[in-house]
Amino acid sequence: MTFVASVSSSKGGSGKSTTSINLGVALSSLGKDVTVVDANLSTPYLSMYLGAPHAPVTLHHVLSGTAHMKEAIYEHSSGVNIVPGSIQSHKGFENLNLENLQDHIGHLNSDIVILDGAPGLDREAKSSMKISNEVLVVTNPELPSVAHSLKTIRMAEGMGKKVSGVVLTRAGHETDIHKDNVETILEHSVIGVIPEDENMKRAVMRREPVSSIYPNSPSAVAYHQLACYLTGKKHLVDMDQYSDGQSTGVKLMRWALGLRE
Ligand SMILES: Nc1ncnc2c1ncn2[C@@H]1O[C@H](COP(=O)(O)OP(=O)(O)OP(=O)(O)O)[C@@H](O)[C@H]1O
Ligand SMILES: [Mg+2]
Repeated sequence: MTFVASVSSSKGGSGKSTTSINLGVALSSLGKDVTVVDANLSTPYLSMYLGAPHAPVTLHHVLSGTAHMKEAIYEHSSGVNIVPGSIQSHKGFENLNLENLQDHIGHLNSDIVILDGAPGLDREAKSSMKISNEVLVVTNPELPSVAHSLKTIRMAEGMGKKVSGVVLTRAGHETDIHKDNVETILEHSVIGVIPEDENMKRAVMRREPVSSIYPNSPSAVAYHQLACYLTGKKHLVDMDQYSDGQSTGVKLMRWALGLRE
């Protein structure tokens, strides 16, 4: 049976597409058959990260009824399958039939389907969560991003979805909110800490996933550890470097977010 995970965050630019692709590559290197779907239908830029911005058949064709899902699957050299969106999708996006997304996803035969979600909390962001078994929440270690994640988690739980955990991306700055505090605020475990990594820019420039072309880089290693954790191959890695057990400031942050003590 296919396991469907949505990579979600209401905040734009938090690292959903980067996480979807690199987690997909990492899971694929562990022997899983993975398909990453660009479920960010209004701004579908997943394929840009892979050097193939203008795929002839996309999820938009599938949702508008002009192609079958099987025609929209492309195999990346890493082994991961990709279902891209149409970059010129803004015209007619409102008319796409999102209700049928689940049926189309049902035609993917992979072990794992990763849905790269749209930012926001509207119909588009909800549609990928709705058809997922679990929701992986991506956040940056700063207060506005964590505040967004709180809303994302509430939306997922309001839809009866299991939150697999929180992935902190672009981490490692002196000013970061500590991992323990993120867990206290969000009341969910941080299951991955992806460091800010210069190799990411190089990979984007080369239009390849960092996990494919720089597998030993800090971010690729962190995505590999996350994939190991999610497939049960490993317990959570020691992330103490990102946590000093501080609680200073967490009360203030919870207060700022309107949370109880
Ligand atoms: N660990 C990292 N180190 C450095 N840069 C990163 C890292 N993770 C992501 N980025 C960069 O952050 C930017 C935003 O990432 P990404 O496109 O994955 O976010 P997103 O949540 O999918 O955005 P959107 O909401 O617009 O879809 C990109 O330029 C990406 O290369
Ligand atoms: Mg994205």
